[in-house]
Amino acid sequence: MFNFDFYNPTRIFFGKGRLDVIDKNVPANARVLITFGGGSAKKSGLIDKVKTHLGNRKVLEFGGIEPNPRYETLMKAAEVVRNENIDFILAVGGGSVIDGTKFICLASHYKGDARDLLKHGFAPITSQVVEKVVPFGSVLTLPATGSEMNNGAVISYEHGKFPVMSELAYPKFSILDPVVTFTLPKIQVANGVVDAFVHVAEQYITFPADAKVQDRMAEGILQTLIEIGATTVNEPENYAARANHVWSATMALNGIIAVGVPQDWATHMIGHELTALFGIDHGQTLAIVYPSVLDVCRRQKRTKLLQYAERVWNITTGSDDEKIDLAIKKTREFFESLGIKTRLSEYGVTVDKIPAVVEQLKAHGLTALSETGKITLEVSQKILENAL
Ligand code: NZQ
Ligand code: ZN
Repeated sequence: MFNFDFYNPTRIFFGKGRLDVIDKNVPANARVLITFGGGSAKKSGLIDKVKTHLGNRKVLEFGGIEPNPRYETLMKAAEVVRNENIDFILAVGGGSVIDGTKFICLASHYKGDARDLLKHGFAPITSQVVEKVVPFGSVLTLPATGSEMNNGAVISYEHGKFPVMSELAYPKFSILDPVVTFTLPKIQVANGVVDAFVHVAEQYITFPADAKVQDRMAEGILQTLIEIGATTVNEPENYAARANHVWSATMALNGIIAVGVPQDWATHMIGHELTALFGIDHGQTLAIVYPSVLDVCRRQKRTKLLQYAERVWNITTGSDDEKIDLAIKKTREFFESLGIKTRLSEYGVTVDKIPAVVEQLKAHGLTALSETGKITLEVSQKILENAL
């Protein structure tokens, strides 16, 4: 196991009817900005309920944060924060609203050009860079990204999606009420299962680091997602299935299974380019790219792929290559069983578009991806061709 530091200060309130914790956890005299997306949280009445729990505090709203939140939109919110002396933000939404809110919190009082904050990549933004950060909490409406309990955000600007990481950007608290997610369209639930699955897999199917707790936890989350996947998609109001979906998604990317192990993230980086270029949903890009990554990188991932085959899919017979083939096939079939297409061509992306994706990877410096850095642009091209 590698050396590691672990820190996660986000307080979680899980379960039915938890909005009442807002009053205790938002400072009594705060001037609050509620951030939300395209309207689902308004339509469901969730924003009104949140406002009721904020009581007499001064409350403003900023809606319209789009899926794959855009820099320009977020900077408009940052202006509201400055002009209205907002000192607490409550994000009500999915990964896009929570990610966007993290950026608003960091950018509102940043002294320079806030586009600088998009240039740090995976290097954390510290208090030397951003002196004053607005605190925030979240009410999660879509189980997928883990943003509700981590310090990352992905911000869209021009033709790129840029990771922004900062310990200053952890939510102070997040409310995880599975009932709030019942209004989700099926496709978003399915996207959420795939996203959580691939988050775990990118921290698990790498090379062995003798990290037994992390491995067993990763396998437990993967098996849970396989067990409840179809139910959480097909029975939108099945509380038990959705509760397990929500907590799996949070546990998948709150840092716990990441400690002391190598991490891949090639699928996410290639997937981000597919979203930026073709507008394919984040979860769907992962369902397209991941089976192909496992296939093309089967040599570097061999030991862990065999462990995945045996422990997650209970594949115990056949040669090693047969086991790996079957594990990849079952992974693809699992995504497809949720109603997600796993081939690039099914999203209208043809072979002639692949060079443009590779160009974008190059432009963003993503030329040595995965746990070994061995996914060069040539390998990424092969992965994309293999995903057609
Ligand atoms: O905008 P509204 O009207 O709210 O509709 C949203 C949106 O259209 C809708 N929705 C959300 N909750 C709902 C609902 N509709 C009905 N009922 C509800 N309860 O769902 C649509 C998608 O929402 P979005 O927030 O975009 O989805 P998701 O949570 O999958 O977030 C995706 C974003 O997160 C980033 C992705 O790159 C993408 O930008 N990621 C963030 C990560 C992180 N912070 O750690 C890691 C991930 O790998 C990912 O990259
Ligand atoms: Zn993801």
